[in-house]
Order: sequence, then C-alpha cells, then structure tokens
Amino acid sequence: MQEFDLLIIGAGPGGYVAAIRAAQLGFKVACVEYWQDDEEKAALGGTCLNVGCIPSKALLDSSEQYEHVKTALPEHGITVEGLKLDLAAMLARKKKVVRGLTDGIAGLFKKNKITWLQGKASLQKDRGVEILFHDGKKENFRARFIVLATGSVPNALPAAPFDGQLIVDSTAALNFDQVPETLGIIGAGVIGLELGSVWRRLGSKVTLIEAMPEFLPTADRDVAKEAEKIFRQQGLQMLFGAKLTKAEVLNQQVKVVYTQQGREENQSFDRLIVAVGRRPNTAGLGLEEAGVETTEKGFIKVDQHFCTSVDGIYAIGDVIGGPMLAHKASEEGIALAEILAGQKPEIRYDVIPWVIYTAPEIAWCGKTETELQQEGVAYKKGTFPFLANGRARAMGESKGFVKILSHETTDRLLGVHILGPHASELIAEAVVAMEFFASAEDIARIVHAHPTLSEAMHEAALATDKRTIHL
Ligand code: FAD
Ligand code: NAI
Repeated sequence: MQEFDLLIIGAGPGGYVAAIRAAQLGFKVACVEYWQDDEEKAALGGTCLNVGCIPSKALLDSSEQYEHVKTALPEHGITVEGLKLDLAAMLARKKKVVRGLTDGIAGLFKKNKITWLQGKASLQKDRGVEILFHDGKKENFRARFIVLATGSVPNALPAAPFDGQLIVDSTAALNFDQVPETLGIIGAGVIGLELGSVWRRLGSKVTLIEAMPEFLPTADRDVAKEAEKIFRQQGLQMLFGAKLTKAEVLNQQVKVVYTQQGREENQSFDRLIVAVGRRPNTAGLGLEEAGVETTEKGFIKVDQHFCTSVDGIYAIGDVIGGPMLAHKASEEGIALAEILAGQKPEIRYDVIPWVIYTAPEIAWCGKTETELQQEGVAYKKGTFPFLANGRARAMGESKGFVKILSHETTDRLLGVHILGPHASELIAEAVVAMEFFASAEDIARIVHAHPTLSEAMHEAALATDKRTIHL
C-alpha cells in the first residue's frame, strides 16, 4: 500500500492549488482526479477549468468580439462586410484554451512532484482511501492527511429533468452545436446571465425565468436596477417571480409552464438551460462509512481550520459551502496546506470579490447598501458614472458606475460596487484597499493614471466626501 503525507481528492481550483502549495512546503502529495474530457482524456482543473470559469469566459469573449464587430465597430468608423459566425471554430477555440490550461496543471504537478492518481476515490473506515482507476483496477492508499475537494455539481429540477439534448445543464450549454433560435433559461443567477449573454450575442432570443421577485438579490440594489435595465435593452427577456410548474419536450421544442402573479403561462423554446444553483458533490465518496458529517444541505461540515468531524480528514472549496467561487476554493487550498505545515494563514471572507462577466461587467466586494441599512451601520456613499470618464468614453463603453460605501465617521471602506467595463479588473483595487482597512480618502489621495477606467474609482472615493472633480 502506497503512503503519502497528503492525499487530496479532487483536482479543481481547491484541490490542485492545495496540492501545489503542500508540495512547496515539503509534503509528499498525491491528488486523485477522475475527470475525463469528451475524448476520454484525463484532465485536471475540475469544474472551473473544464466546464466552468474558463470555457464560459472563452465563449463570453468570443461572443463579445462577434457582437462588437456587428454593433460597435460602425461607430468607430469601421465597416466589416461578410461577417459570419463559425460556431464550430468558436467551440474548437474554447476547447483548445481549456486543454492548454488543464495540460498546464499536469505540468505543474510534474514540476512539484505531485502524484496524479487517475480514478475515483472513496473513503473507507479508519481513514483508508480506495481508488477505482480508469482501467478498472482498485487499490487502497493511506495518508497522514486526507483532503476532500470534490466540488459541486448542478442542481436538477424534478419539474424539468435534464435530457442532455434539449433540457440541459450549464455543461451541455457550453457545447450547443447550433445557435438555438429561442433559448429559455430557468434561473437568472450568475450562470443564467453569463450563458444567456453568450447565446443572445450569437443570435438566440433568450428568456430568463426566475423564481425570485427581484433581480440579483445579493448584488447592490443600484447596480442590480441599472444592470437589469441595460440587459433588457440588449434584448434579454427576464421574468421574475415566475414559478416553474413543468418543462417537457414536445415536437423537438421544450414547453415550459410556469405561474406568474397567480396566472399560469407557458412558452416554448428550442433549448432550455436549467441553472438554479449547485450542490455539493459527495455521491459515492463514502462520507457515511468514514463518519464524516454533513450539513442539512449536504455540505461537508468543517471548523475554521477546515477539519471535518473525523481527525485527519479536511475539506475545502465548493463542497464545504460558502461562496461557490474558484478563488475562494484556491485560497482555502493554500490556507489548509499552510495550516498543516504549522503556519497561521487567514482568509478574509468578508472581502472576497464577486464578478459577473456580462457586458458591462458587475463586480463587488464588501457590504451592499441594503446590508449596511439592515445592520444599522452609518455610512457615506459616493457614486461616479463611467459616462463622465474619459477612457470609457473613448472606448465607447460608458454605461454603469462605481459606487463606494464608507463608514460615516471613520471613513473606512465598507463596500465597493462596480457596473461597467472591465469591472472584473477594477475591483482588485477595492479588494486590496479593503484588505488593508483603507478609507475612501486613501483611494481619493492615490494618484490614478489618466486616462484610465480606474479614475472612476478615484472619483467615486472623492464623491463620498462630495468633492468629485468631473461631475
Ligand atoms: P471543482 O472545481 O468542482 O473540482 C472538484 C473536482 O473533484 C472535480 O474535478 C471532480 O472530478 C473531482 N472529484 C469529485 N469527486 C471525486 C472522487 N470521488 N474521486 C476523484 N475525484 C473526484 N467561479 C469563479 O470564481 N469565477 C467564474 O467565472 C466561474 N464561472 C463558472 C462558470 C460555470 C459555468 C460554472 C459551472 C462554475 C463557475 N464558477 C466560477 C464556479 C467554480 O467553477 C467553482 O467554484 C470551483 O470550480 C470550485 O472549485 P473546487 O475545487 O471546490 O471544485
Ligand atoms: P445562482 O445561485 O447564481 O443562481 C440561481 C438562480 O436560480 C437564483 O437566482 C435562484 O433564485 C434561481 N432559482 C432557483 N430555483 C429556481 C426555480 N425552481 N425556478 C426559477 N428560478 C430558480 O446559481 P447558478 O447561476 O446556477 O450558478 C451556480 C454557482 O456557480 C454560482 O452561485 C456561483 O457561485 C458559481 N458561478 C460563478 C460565476 C462567476 O463567478 N462569474 C459564473 C458562474 C457560476
């Protein structure tokens, strides 16, 4: 039986990053991963690299370029004739981007002398781990520390069962072989908005059917309200407070029946994506046999040091709940490796950035205005529109704004909310500032290059003190 210091189950951004950091710290590490791509080639990187962050962003970028050429270039004085969409080539590019990155992780494993065990792991009694390899062989392993990093899988709805063809999850929705004329999406959350944007840009008439009465309830209300207006102008249809009754395939179309304001309605679509959140991936992992406790919703219970209810077994990433974000999983992977090495790392969960890669992008960290009101915190607010930002105007992308919330008396930054071009990059300044407990005045006193989008952050900070220059 082979022995390791650390045996990590799952090579998503939680598991593979934990493996690399642990190897750097001198542990003998193995990582078990059973993922195989559509050509049955083993792959590292988990949901994020294979069917999540990376392929979705590849398609978001490709589709944005396509739409840009169609709708934005004439304003720049550029006319393109004979514009054509080659969906097969776009999907092939996405696949190449993914493979490049997953192969890159295999390279990092080699460089760090991490053993990749290609198969499915299940916990046994007394902290043993059995691995069923892709070739059908089984073997048992032991380790001083076992890390569960098995991630999450899409939620299914009994009223809209996946058939892999017309009613699909996010994975299949990254691979439609043609642009559906009409596309329904159950759930106007992050996936609904991102994949809805991809297919709308490529030509689908997209309708999002959302159970909640309001748009993006976890985002700041000002951001959500403005974003909803912009997305509707772009052509996304959005229904709120719509309760799904049934979705069924009739004559190669998906008929969706729902109730809205007490009235039963129905619509038919060429394809339907169900994107209603994700659940922990623990099927067949042997949690019960090993005595690892879970929450009511099935997430693995851990303490603040990622220890499960069983000594020597740890868990990180989507499978323990909290924000289901790749960067959250990776930071937990790094922190856990360092804890096991006797260090004392800390993750600031309160300033984890959120990004939605629509156009314009949405990004935020810290508290929303509603949260501050509910907590009775006295705050100041500063907002600055990209319409008054020179770079945004030059780019022709002047929709949205930066909103900064700081404490009424101490001026400490409490929340930063951005709707606008490259919000995903701009938010990094806010995260750094909040990590260092900066004030709005600190941002206001920092020299920001001109002309840049970051000047909108600078001006929003000035606005908390009612002293914007360009408004
Ligand atoms: P995962 O990435 O799910 O990895 C878990 C791994 O464990 C998998 O590879 C699985 O095969 C393996 N595994 C499970 N059980 C076993 C077993 N028994 N034996 C061996 N291996 C096993 N997050 C962002 O931050 N930004 C984004 O832009 C973003 N976009 C997304 C887009 C989509 C369409 C989706 C679906 C998700 C997106 N996410 C994004 C979320 C992100 O992918 C997850 O939060 C992240 O992958 C979680 O990492 P993880 O390591 O916890 O789990
Ligand atoms: P989500 O939680 O963002 O959105 C799901 C939506 O479905 C919610 O608005 C919810 O109210 C709605 N819903 C639930 N049940 C419903 C029903 N029966 N009928 C209609 N609507 C219903 O989850 P989503 O979009 O599936 O994404 C899963 C997770 O993946 C996200 O929470 C996020 O953590 C991660 N992700 C992150 C991305 C990013 O960081 N840019 C991109 C994509 C996914």
